[in-house]
Amino acid sequence: MIPPDTVQKIIAAARIEEVIGDFVDLRKRGSNRIGLCPFHNEKTPSFVVSPAKNIYKCFGCGKAGDPVKFLMEHEHFSYPEALRNLAARYNIHVEERKLTAEEVEARHFEDSLFLVNETASQFFQDQLFNTDIGKSAGLSYFKGRGYSEEIIKKFNLGFVPDIQDKFTSFALSKGYKLDLLQKLGLTNKYKKDFFKDKVMFTIHNLSGKPIAFAGRKLNEQKSGPKYVNSPENPVYFKSKTLYGLNFARKDISKKDVCYLVEGYTDVISLHQAGIENVVASSGTSLTVEQIGLVKRYSPNLTLLFDGDNAGVKAALRGIDLVLEQDMNVKLVMLPENEDPDSFVKKVGGDAFEDYLQTNAQDFIYFKTKLLKEEAKQDPIKKVELIKDIVRSISKIPDPLKRSVYIKEVSAVMSMEEELLLDQMNSFIKSDISNLRKRKQREESRRPGPVKDDIVGPSSEGQGLQKPSVNTNLKTSGHKGAYQERDIIRILILAGDFIFDEDEQVKVSEFILSNIEDVINDFDDPLYSKVAKLCYNKFINGEDFDTSFFVNNEDESVSKLAFDLVQSPFEYSEGWADRWQIYLQTQKMPDENFQPDSLQALLRFKLHKVSQMCEKNQSRIEQLTSAEDELDILIKLLKVQSKLNQMKKELAEQLGTVIL
Ligand code: UTP
Ligand code: MN
Repeated sequence: MIPPDTVQKIIAAARIEEVIGDFVDLRKRGSNRIGLCPFHNEKTPSFVVSPAKNIYKCFGCGKAGDPVKFLMEHEHFSYPEALRNLAARYNIHVEERKLTAEEVEARHFEDSLFLVNETASQFFQDQLFNTDIGKSAGLSYFKGRGYSEEIIKKFNLGFVPDIQDKFTSFALSKGYKLDLLQKLGLTNKYKKDFFKDKVMFTIHNLSGKPIAFAGRKLNEQKSGPKYVNSPENPVYFKSKTLYGLNFARKDISKKDVCYLVEGYTDVISLHQAGIENVVASSGTSLTVEQIGLVKRYSPNLTLLFDGDNAGVKAALRGIDLVLEQDMNVKLVMLPENEDPDSFVKKVGGDAFEDYLQTNAQDFIYFKTKLLKEEAKQDPIKKVELIKDIVRSISKIPDPLKRSVYIKEVSAVMSMEEELLLDQMNSFIKSDISNLRKRKQREESRRPGPVKDDIVGPSSEGQGLQKPSVNTNLKTSGHKGAYQERDIIRILILAGDFIFDEDEQVKVSEFILSNIEDVINDFDDPLYSKVAKLCYNKFINGEDFDTSFFVNNEDESVSKLAFDLVQSPFEYSEGWADRWQIYLQTQKMPDENFQPDSLQALLRFKLHKVSQMCEKNQSRIEQLTSAEDELDILIKLLKVQSKLNQMKKELAEQLGTVIL
């Protein structure tokens, strides 16, 4: 972790025009610089950099921020990565933890694995381009498939002849250890080559280092499987790798959608046709880790299926996993007997993209129609299939999306919406309860964390166990710390975002004007301090953003802001339990700040009203039944009924927002 004072030093040193100047040609315009926006396609510049304010803003796509934000957006760095990058650039020393001897050794080991793979990749490429057999068998194979030399080189394609130990003896002669060759699966236990008589595909990691290989047989007549792949090794985990992502990530970001295809050759052909936002899962079903990789660049995933339809049904099940990650999933079936590789060669890149545009179907609708067809007149089957679809829907974290889908399915399947909703909620509940059980099991193995209490609308009489606290959250132990922290979290992370486009109201303005009457009632001293800080700015009409807090002279404030920025994905399992806010705050604040702010505000208000209720109640109880206190009692009872009414209304509002 980088100490807060170093963070401040880095932020103070970074010059926006220098950082952006590395990536964008900037021209002077008055006191500003202007250039073509690197975040969207444009022909006339609308990307403005202000050295005075040390910020950038695109008037085309709206992206804006400071040097750190630019690196996070443009280079997809995490916050600490961006800071480290700037620190290196501006010669600011960041005190890093010293690596242990084992860590140093592990790093050396990894480096040598990459080195061996790099050598192998070079060897295969050299065989392809510079040997007679390579040219006549390998290069002609690739050229026969329509690949240009440029694309062959870009993807590090290669060839290996039908000789028992061509590569192994080469590598040994270069001094590489047999042990390493075997660990990488390049050499088998008989000291012979694993890949023989194949055209070779190099598989890279995200930063473009070779981590594994796939070899394809040269024609269908040869025996054995079509493709053989390197076994998993310390730098290659199938489930965490997507073929082509190193080449695709920029375009996925830019086009804000990722195409997922089945094969290596599909990826390469699409790239050659100018469609670069494409990756392959290489014959395995999609994993959570792979989805996470895509999600770093875009929440939109379009799955391309071969026209032969085989595999679609099996794949449908796997897709729940994608929905769970709150990705928007679409699906395209290619024309009969075509895979992306053959189809793009037939029609060209533009027509291919047009086809995707017109034929992409929403996943849930697709599944519904497919299964409806299958169920036909069989009512029992129909019930099973509807459950199946509703289960998929229940995996979607966004409650609004869920309700839209439920409506749609109810219409398509002629099923009562209420029934579907009940079914869906019971799936959600059982998921949550499983999650909780799992967490409890995990926690019972660890030393117990602090337990906290949460006041919520449905907390009365449900007999639910007190939820355990996410140990990352350093809330003070009192009631309502979450609600307070949540408000503060949003003020710090998203305060300067626009809450209402039409009215041009900022998130901070929306929240602060709504909590004006309780601004002095925060229980937690730190949150109270931040709330007052914000409120003073608000009434003086001054703007503030995240960097105001991160750079705050008050160390406790900057520390809090820093913590929040480092881990914006706060999610307390307890809330999901109580209110079925299913991973609601899992998204980055700049994607989710609107529903997030509204909910946080309601929860906070509800908490405050509940507190007032309790206080009032205890005053009522303290009253002795003396005659002269009757007036007071009546007043307090009126207040109590008013508060209860408010509480009920808030709970209802919260309920409608949530479900
Ligand atoms: P396909 O059989 O669809 O092959 O397998 P393809 O990608 O169209 O390849 P070409 O165009 O015939 O050369 C899809 C993917 O499944 C994996 C590979 O990753 C392949 O790209 N696969 C397939 C294997 O791992 N082993 C096999 O034997 C076959
Ligand atoms: Mn193919």
